[in-house]
Amino acid sequence: MRKSKIIGTGSAIPEIRVTNHDLEKIVDTNDEWIQSRTGISSRYFAAPETNTSDLSARAAQKALEAAGVKAEDIDLIIVATITPDMGLPSTACMVQDLIGATKASAFDLTAACSGFVYGMAVADQFISSGFYNHVLVIGAETLSRILDMSDRNTCVLFGDGAGAVVMSASDSDQGLLSFQLGADGTGGKYLYLPGGGAKVPASHESVDQRLHYIKMEGSDVFKFAVRAMESSSVTAIEKAGLSISDVNYMVPHQANIRIIQAAAKKLRLPMEKVQVNLNEYGNMSAASIPVALDEAVRENKIKKDDNVVMVGFGGGLTWASCVMKW
Ligand code: UT7
Repeated sequence: MRKSKIIGTGSAIPEIRVTNHDLEKIVDTNDEWIQSRTGISSRYFAAPETNTSDLSARAAQKALEAAGVKAEDIDLIIVATITPDMGLPSTACMVQDLIGATKASAFDLTAACSGFVYGMAVADQFISSGFYNHVLVIGAETLSRILDMSDRNTCVLFGDGAGAVVMSASDSDQGLLSFQLGADGTGGKYLYLPGGGAKVPASHESVDQRLHYIKMEGSDVFKFAVRAMESSSVTAIEKAGLSISDVNYMVPHQANIRIIQAAAKKLRLPMEKVQVNLNEYGNMSAASIPVALDEAVRENKIKKDDNVVMVGFGGGLTWASCVMKW
């Protein structure tokens, strides 16, 4: 049966490294609190001239190179992001132009931190149905642009970056074995960006009220996250006809080391099998999983025929997981 398979990965991290000590100078926080409560010690912010589309294009070019696929052979570009360069056109269309993927259709996908896995599930539908052969799935964010640097509850958590994969048709055993997607709109109030959409367009008032910044109820998201990571992973693993002991490696969303450890413990998965990079990059929302995946691949932590679980959760609320035979 025709499957979709990742044949190349790439990532791009922007210019400016911001440490916890740097943040101590602008908001009432400290390195000890951030490290012990989140596991984060630094994050990267894009320079003013660098946008989500630029980071996406850089990550995409690396993924294409790793895959040995030309940009002109890409059929579809999906960019998962909550920080598109602008409302219109889509960031995916900008990426199409930047990398010269002249034949590709292109659209953005909004599922917050779950967006990249949602994107892979969409790509899988186009590929397994025979409609497309090569899809570029990108998770990319410039969250620094929507961070309220006076709100210590959020500004210490997030960073910018992009990760990309080329998904292509496969007739072998390798490829996407299963996925599980979910959403609970009743939880939208826990993580949201009130301003900048059509409901609250930019105005003097909306800027004065700081409505163009991300708002979060951290502890509610925390509780939801641990539950969602565990239950979504279990569902995808079962759908793939596997059990936890068959899982060789997990690439989770990188929001908080305590969330990752709690989920791994519930799943009885040793931390040696879990990719963690949030210490360096913080939470990059849709970019977290593809950047962590690219690093795991390049560090040879994922080998041929390994069963790899990717799992994310985030605003919406949303959650998503998949199992990929590498
Ligand atoms: O990608 C999905 C999006 N987000 C997430 O996954 C985030 C999920 N949530 C979390 O990771 C955690 O809830 C946080 C890291 C956001 C917060 O950790 P927590 O252990 O839940 O702390 P808390 O919110 O209960 O706050 C504990 C204390 C509070 O002080 P009081 O009221 O006890 O005096 C906060 O005001 O820590 C204080 N606090 C800080 N102190 C120093 C909150 N932020 C900071 C800070 N620096 N940056």
